[in-house]
Amino acid sequence: MNNKILFALLISIVFSGVRPAIAEDSTLHIYSSRHYNTDEKLYTDFTKQTGIEVKRVDGKGDALIVRLEQEQELSSADLFITVDSGRLWRAEQAGLFDKIQSDVLDKAIPENLRHPEGQWFGFSSRARVLVYNKDKVNAGDIATYQGLTDPKWKGRVCVRSSGNIYNQSLLASMIAQEGEETAKIWAKGLLNNLARKPQGGDTDQIKAVAAGICDIALVNSYYFFRLQRSENADDLAVVENLDLIFPDQNDKGTHINISGAGVLKHAKNKEAAVKFLEYLTSEEAQAYFADGNNEYPVIQNVQVNDIVEKQKNFKKQHVSVREFGVYQKKAKMIFDEIGFP
Ligand SMILES: [Fe+2]
Repeated sequence: MNNKILFALLISIVFSGVRPAIAEDSTLHIYSSRHYNTDEKLYTDFTKQTGIEVKRVDGKGDALIVRLEQEQELSSADLFITVDSGRLWRAEQAGLFDKIQSDVLDKAIPENLRHPEGQWFGFSSRARVLVYNKDKVNAGDIATYQGLTDPKWKGRVCVRSSGNIYNQSLLASMIAQEGEETAKIWAKGLLNNLARKPQGGDTDQIKAVAAGICDIALVNSYYFFRLQRSENADDLAVVENLDLIFPDQNDKGTHINISGAGVLKHAKNKEAAVKFLEYLTSEEAQAYFADGNNEYPVIQNVQVNDIVEKQKNFKKQHVSVREFGVYQKKAKMIFDEIGFP
């Protein structure tokens, strides 16, 4: 090979292969259905530490899954972040994720909060709890999810619709642990005790308890904590006379779910995506990720805000959160069968 050819070859390598690769290495593309202000700090800190720039597309979880399915290998996304393992399972079933083998992730994240083969990982957890009106309910009156079906609560319970994934995941967890029949009896009992036709989100259920429309509501913990931490007087007035109960403390523990993420099969920058996931297990990132939505960090001894800190010591269910996806279809069928709105 003469010098001229060698030179031409070098030039072609420099301008065709190597340069775009360098450009890609410096950017991580994330599709996210989390959109909390404190998450911004996560991204800027990651860029500071690694030099990898983060570009984010925000959207609703299910809409982003549809988008990723349509885009396939044309997608710019490397990583998908969303809430509820039932939704991560939907993305998994759509074949969107790659399997990631990382000792850092496996060591940091409890086994029940991640996919068994590394398709997705949980980075914070939330509990599905009972919120009650202290004027109408005594703390000892109810201690379990099962308790919600007691006839004494007839016309006194609020919950959002069964189309919502939080309720589907809760019922799926019951199917996984206690079987379909028991889960169905529970769902029927809950339906019988509703104060009104399900409407609105979890915050609306808490407001309904405060307004006296119902006495107990089934909601995710962070909605209650968000109101407790609010600087708005109206929000604080809502929770003033309310308290929460972590169900099943003398049994399996309270149902928990996750916020999580997975590396996409068609990622152009897998290395950066894995680096970001590993970064999310650092103490500092854990604090921001969990705090952003008043959730619980997945690693031990991470300091979060006072409100969450005060309400973090409870017994959690140990079932694999992936089960909530496995039994999602059955849960939906039960809700449909019994006519749960
Ligand atoms: Fe939520």
